[in-house]
Amino acid sequence: MTHRELRKKYLDFFLESPRNHQVIPSAPIIPENDPTTLFTSSGMQPLIPFLLGEKHPLGQRLTDSQKSFRAQDINEVGDNRHSTFFEMLGNWSLGDYFKNDQLRWFFTFLTKVLKLDPNKLYVTVYEGDQIVPKDTESVEIWKEIYASVGIDAKVVDSPSSNSGTSAKQGRIFLYPASKNWWSRSGEPEKMPPGEPGGPDSEVFFEFTQIPHDPKFGKQCHPNCECGHFLEIGNSVFMQYQKQADGTLTELPNKNVDFGGGLERLIAATENNPDIFQSDLFFPVIELLSRLSGKKYSDPINQPPMRIITDHLKAATFMLAEGLQPGNKQQGYILRRLIRRSVVKMHKLHLQCSTIEAGIQICQVIGQIYSNVYLYPETKEFSNITSTLSEEIKRFEQVLNKGIKLLEKQPVVDGKLAFDLLQTYGFPWELTAELALERGQKIDFGEFQKEFQKHQELSRNTSKGMFKGGLQNHSEVITRLHTATHLLQQTLRDILGDHVRQKGSNITVQRLRFDFTHPKKLTDQEILDIEKIVNLKIKENLRVNMSITELEQALKNSALTVPGVKYPAKVKVYSIGNFSKEVCGGPHVDFTGLLGKFKIIKEEAAGSNSRRIYATLI
Ligand code: SER
Repeated sequence: MTHRELRKKYLDFFLESPRNHQVIPSAPIIPENDPTTLFTSSGMQPLIPFLLGEKHPLGQRLTDSQKSFRAQDINEVGDNRHSTFFEMLGNWSLGDYFKNDQLRWFFTFLTKVLKLDPNKLYVTVYEGDQIVPKDTESVEIWKEIYASVGIDAKVVDSPSSNSGTSAKQGRIFLYPASKNWWSRSGEPEKMPPGEPGGPDSEVFFEFTQIPHDPKFGKQCHPNCECGHFLEIGNSVFMQYQKQADGTLTELPNKNVDFGGGLERLIAATENNPDIFQSDLFFPVIELLSRLSGKKYSDPINQPPMRIITDHLKAATFMLAEGLQPGNKQQGYILRRLIRRSVVKMHKLHLQCSTIEAGIQICQVIGQIYSNVYLYPETKEFSNITSTLSEEIKRFEQVLNKGIKLLEKQPVVDGKLAFDLLQTYGFPWELTAELALERGQKIDFGEFQKEFQKHQELSRNTSKGMFKGGLQNHSEVITRLHTATHLLQQTLRDILGDHVRQKGSNITVQRLRFDFTHPKKLTDQEILDIEKIVNLKIKENLRVNMSITELEQALKNSALTVPGVKYPAKVKVYSIGNFSKEVCGGPHVDFTGLLGKFKIIKEEAAGSNSRRIYATLI
């Protein structure tokens, strides 16, 4: 099934009666108001405030297809089913329907709409512990669902690869929190204060053509990693919140948070375990085959082709959202994705330059997603390709020098890896990969120590940034976000109405705001901006929210962000008579709560755009 067809079938299914959901647009992969994480890595992430009880303008039943990125999976890419970038189809009940509807609807979608054979579907359920009991309700619902299609569903307790319980013995498998509990941080012990989570129930598709691989244990079962089973959907019963004292309390609402990978659902409909053969990836693979004269069917070419396809797809989306490659946070991950792709391109010995290949790949990705997420209007798209070419060019210059240096050394040790990082910008993992590919020895002393330290750091930045907890962060973010509204209106008043938001990003330390403006701000302009924002803070203006039709909001001159798709009904935040914006972010009730506004830095942010860093003291 094509990605366009499957995405549409899913959204239509949840729009239709009796499900009656509203479609919400995908949020960006670089979150604007959530400094607890670098990337949007699941459909629920932009919905956290609503799962915690805030009212959503479109009601209690929502559905979408969310662009997602998981940096922690970067080293898994290369096999037939892992990618860093993916789309998550999602449906949510915000305190409305619960387990009974959710499990039945998803099964109906799989078997009636996608026409998957129920005999190939296996499910898992939370087995419970001393704190949260076993999910017997889901077990009973699944039994009934299977019975309705003539399958007598046997329940298997805590299967494991060596326990002797195999898939052949059951349909419904009970697992502990490590497998059947979902929060952004994982199991309950790992959840920071404020984080929502709950037990979940997953559905797996069986690829009968892939026999169990004994390397993964004696017996196969849904969570065995051998590839015989593929997880295609996860219904989380999001009903708990972690508290500062470590306990879990019930949320005001019992929510459903469902997510299913579009790429994997396509693989199931085609009964093809290789996600890279779907129309979401294959045009890039074909291009790489043409450019290299190498066949994808040759297993030796598969990992590099898959890595380039996945990494440049993720990079294209990030560049399209205005991210620049850099040495910190998201920019560093983007740089790693591009650099790793270039190294793999060399491995394939392309018949053109890596810059030329990068541009062509980026264009093919633009075509795959045209009218879905990427809008390759000439201007935007030429911005993406010029940043990409520039980054590849810079890397090519250092790559040769770095490889020469690397090749001269009999043993790659910590000092050399450090020098390569400092002088040539080689990430640690790239040095290790290149050395291993060349059969060079790595001195696993100092290098490993440094490497582990570094990996820990990047794992923490990409995955576990939630440490401080949502509750600790939220007040500072709310203030900085509200200040961003004041800043945007002030910029328009001082510089002119050509000022429009291009990007916004908030950490606990500062706000960052990108906007269209052709020239550097003068010292006087910066002083004037600070003065007006601080005046509006002093006036202690009331922040009001109303929910209206998008059309009405535009008629009332509420500001929007150019290029962003908005739902039919939106929240409009007005700050006194001073500012009016369509916005979903968190806001204080009175500007007097903001403190003193200070601009830290003003700089260029691409052509015709400026960037302001500011803080509240
Ligand atoms: N949040 C869950 C997941 O990411 C389901 O949407 O798997």
